[in-house]
Parts: sequence; C-alpha cells; structure tokens
Amino acid sequence: PAPGWTVEADAIVVGSGIAGLTAALELRTRVPRVVLVTKGELSSGSTVWAQGGIAAALDPSDSPEAHLADTLAAGGGLADPEAVRVLVTEGPERVRELVARGAVFDKAADGDIALTREGGHHADRIAHAGGDATGAEISRALVAQIEAVRHDPGIEVVENALVLDVLTTVGGRACGVTLHVRGTGSRDGVGAVLAPAVVLATGGIGQVFRSSTNPAGATGDGIAAALRAGAVLGDLEFVQFHPTVLWLGSGAKGQLPLISEAVRGEGALLLDVNGHRFMPGVHEMAELAPRDVVAHAIVRQMAATGADNVLLDARHLGREFLRTRFPTINARLLEAGIDWSEEPVPVAPAQHYHSGGVVTDLDGRSSVDGLYAVGEVACTGVHGANRLASNSLLEGIVFASRAARDIVDRFETGDLKPGEPVARPGGAALVAAAARSRIQKVTSAGAGVIRSARSLADADERLGAVRADAHRAADVVAEPQAAEWETTNVHLVARALTRAAWLREETRGGHYRTDFPRPDDAWRRRVLVRLDDDGVL
Ligand code: FAD
Ligand code: SIN
Repeated sequence: PAPGWTVEADAIVVGSGIAGLTAALELRTRVPRVVLVTKGELSSGSTVWAQGGIAAALDPSDSPEAHLADTLAAGGGLADPEAVRVLVTEGPERVRELVARGAVFDKAADGDIALTREGGHHADRIAHAGGDATGAEISRALVAQIEAVRHDPGIEVVENALVLDVLTTVGGRACGVTLHVRGTGSRDGVGAVLAPAVVLATGGIGQVFRSSTNPAGATGDGIAAALRAGAVLGDLEFVQFHPTVLWLGSGAKGQLPLISEAVRGEGALLLDVNGHRFMPGVHEMAELAPRDVVAHAIVRQMAATGADNVLLDARHLGREFLRTRFPTINARLLEAGIDWSEEPVPVAPAQHYHSGGVVTDLDGRSSVDGLYAVGEVACTGVHGANRLASNSLLEGIVFASRAARDIVDRFETGDLKPGEPVARPGGAALVAAAARSRIQKVTSAGAGVIRSARSLADADERLGAVRADAHRAADVVAEPQAAEWETTNVHLVARALTRAAWLREETRGGHYRTDFPRPDDAWRRRVLVRLDDDGVL
C-alpha cells in the first residue's frame, strides 16, 4: 500500500532483540538521526526467551582458537573460518561490553563470571544469567539503555510497527522501508521511513513450523522483505531443531517450552521410553554432542521404540540444585505437573533456530547496497550447517557492532546517500491469515527434521497451492493487517527453504535427507536463493 506519512532518517534499525538493540545503541549519536522500529514492544523477539547463555572464551584456560575449533566442527564443514574467527576473537570483548551496559551474569565462588558447558563445546565457556534466564537479563539491560535515551533528539523509537518492505532506488540501492504502525497521532497506519542504511535485525522463522521454541512474532519478515528487495539468501535449508523441547502431546503447537541444553551440560541424561540411555553409542560426546547429532539420534530412537518422545533424566541432580540453577524451567515444569527431581521429563525435538538467512559480509552488508542484516536473520557464515550452542546471542552482538561501525564509517565518508524509492512492479499477493496453520503443517511434514526428495516436492506443490489461493485471498482482504502480511512472509520463507532443502542432495548438519543419508564433498558449498523480477524463486 502507498505510505500515508514519511519520515527521513540516516539509519533505520528493524527489530529490538539483542542484534537490533546493539546496532541502535552503537549508531546513536554517531549518525545524526536513527530510527529503531519493532513490531511489538521493545522486549519482543527470541532474545528475551534465551535460556542457556552466551558463549565466549572468557576463562584463561580457554581460548578463541578452541572456540573456533568447536564452532567449525559443529558447522559440519560449511562454516566460514574467517567469519568464525571474527566471532570468537571479538566475542569476549563484546560480552564485557554487555556487562558494562548493565547485564548481570551469574558469578562463580571466586567472583568471576560462572561458565558452564553445552553441546559441542570442549570447554566451560557459556556465561549465563538468572540461572536459565540469560536472554531476559540481556534484553532488560539493553532495553533500559534505549529507554534512557529514547526521548533524545538523535533517536526515534517506534513500537508496534510492522516493517512490510525494504524500499530500493532505481539503481537497486536500499533507501528505506514501508511499515504499518498501530499507534496514535502522526505515526499511524502505513508509512515510510527513508534512510540510506537499513539494518534488518528481525530474528527467526519459528512460525514457519507447527511447533517451535520461538515466540509468535518469529515470522521470517526480514528474510521475506530481503528476498523481495532482491537480496541473496543462503543456507536456508539449515534449520536447527532443538533436541529437548517439552513434549506436551501430539496436539501441542505454537511456542513450546524449551528445556535448556545447559541441563545436559550439568549432567542430565537422555533415555528412551524404555529407560535405555542411547547417546553414548552415537557420539563420543554422548548427550553433549552437537545439537543436530542429538536431535537426529532422538528421532531415530523415537522411531525404534514407536514413541512420540524420549526422556530427559535430571533426577540425580537433586531438587534444590534444579530449583536454584534452572528456576525458569523448574517453574514451567511444575506448571505442567512435572516434578523433575522425581520423574524424567518427556521431550522431543522442535524447530529452534535458523542458521541461514540474508547473506552478508563480515560487516553485515547484504548483496543490496545499504541493506544490512544482523542477528538470526543474517547468514554471516559463522554457523554453516549447524549452529554451536549459545553462539547466536554472541553473533548478534559481534556483527551488530561491526555493521554499526561500517555504517558510521560510510556515513562519515559520504558513501551512504539518501535515495528516491521506486515502486516495485507487481506487488506481492497477500496470503490469508487462515492459511497459516496449513503452511505450518505442510512445512513440518515435508521439510522438518527428516526430509527426502519426495517429502520436499510434495511440500513445494502444496505450498504452491496455497499461493494460488492467495490471489483469491487478496480480493477478500480489503484492509490487510499484521496477520496477513506475516502469513505472506511465512509462506514465502517456507517456499524458499523447501526449495533449498530439495536442492541439497546430501545429509549435513541440520539438513537430514533419507534419500541422501551421508555428507557429499560435492556439496561443500552454499545454496543461494533469490527472487527474480517476476517474483519467482
Ligand atoms: P530477536 O531477538 O528474535 O528479535 C527480533 C526483533 O525483530 C523483535 O524485536 C521483533 O519484534 C522484531 N521484528 C521482527 N519482524 C519485524 C518486522 N516486520 N517489523 C518490525 N520489527 C520486526 N541463543 C543463544 O545464543 N543462547 C541461548 O541460550 C539461547 N536460548 C534460546 C532459547 C529460546 C527459547 C529461543 C527461542 C532461542 C534461544 N536462542 C539462544 C537463540 C537466540 O535467542 C536468538 O537467535 C537471538 O536472540 C536472536 O536475536 P535477534 O536480535 O537476531 O532477534
Ligand atoms: C539452550 O539453552 O539450550 C539454548 C541454547 C541455544 O540455543 O544456543
């Protein structure tokens, strides 16, 4: 739709998770006019839900080199060593910066930050807060910093603002966004923010699947908007399914409670429904193998026992330890009627994280000039085929800082100039909100933990049928609202990742194909996806 109002700025940041808040804080005062928009409240997004912690080589006995080795190993041969080196060497300093910004991490007896272990790590390097509420503490600290300056003249914060599209110039440069604001006064309805630097920090894609650890807002908006703006996306097939999500029965869908990997880090064991411990025979790190290995082993064990779940046994850790070390999980389990000091917890894998996204360089620049992507929406190359536990929050701060510095440098040298937006031909037909659960079912069945050419082709065909319906839906939705725009994005992301998964004829990291069950060296490369001028993937 045509914007009813326009604001001019120097940089716009879309999203207020760890990546967006970091970018906005770094840009503020260094470029004159920053606009931070987020579709919910400032604390919306996955960040606030993060449990286990943030990984960084903070202990003198650890090293960025060791962190690099573990990250590359988890990435299944596809992580970019240069990007990982940036992540692990700049990571410790960025975590200390978080502390300076007010985030309070749990302390060890000697007063240093307490460090724990998670899957795929060969050292204790996970800093955590509030036991298992790391994301809530990081979000609290960063939101407080933004709140303290939100009335300053150099920054405007717009909440309840859903970014619809990235605007581009006739030369294909990013020059702003369109957005739908549910507010009052001059910033209501559909408007535009024009700025030569657009930073997408829109998070994940959990809503593309039937069940996920992600909150309801994880609808892949940034990925869809970047695709429509002509950006190149990569690694979309690498979806991470977390091994231990609370099993609430086959009817449970939407956001499901996570049982942190840190619980296994503290010694909890995985059992099948017959009480048999199965991970030691699968991987030398047993329950602490990389996440893809554990999730796939669980799915195989579920098939072998004919059960819908396995069990996470933490009984030997004791009631008092479980209550104090994992207060959030403990409370959630009690709410579900489970006393985990007395009984094992039923768990099964569910969608958790998207390793792929908008392809960027080491400064967060996408293939579209002026368009940046940071945090989960980005594909910096640090995760490859499978993300190492607790590297996501770290990626958010490291690359958001780098992107902000790059924007400041380019702004100062006059390399970033405002541009005139051109109307994009065609415009996407909207998908009716009612189609969301159908899309989720199709994607989960065809492009879930286990895939094959057949399941993916079937999903592609069914998703195509949803698109045919979309043209009819566009007629009936006279005044589209967030639900239609978000469902349209969910649909586009589902199609793109299904295509990418169909193309990759091998099994690697988070991508498990029954028809190509082994890694294939010929596939040590990225699947790249873009929309052509006719909107075809
Ligand atoms: P998010 O925090 O998801 O923020 C995205 C922001 O973009 C939100 O503010 C949202 O409202 C906004 N937004 C989205 N679309 C639009 C739009 N169209 N217009 C305007 N605004 C928009 N990682 C770790 O490293 N360690 C952990 O312990 C950990 N635990 C996790 C536990 C759970 C339950 C979950 C769900 C994830 C966990 N992760 C963990 C992953 C990690 O939390 C996320 O990958 C990370 O927080 C993503 O940060 P982000 O800033 O990129 O996005
Ligand atoms: C967890 O606490 O298990 C989540 C950690 C992560 O996603 O990195």
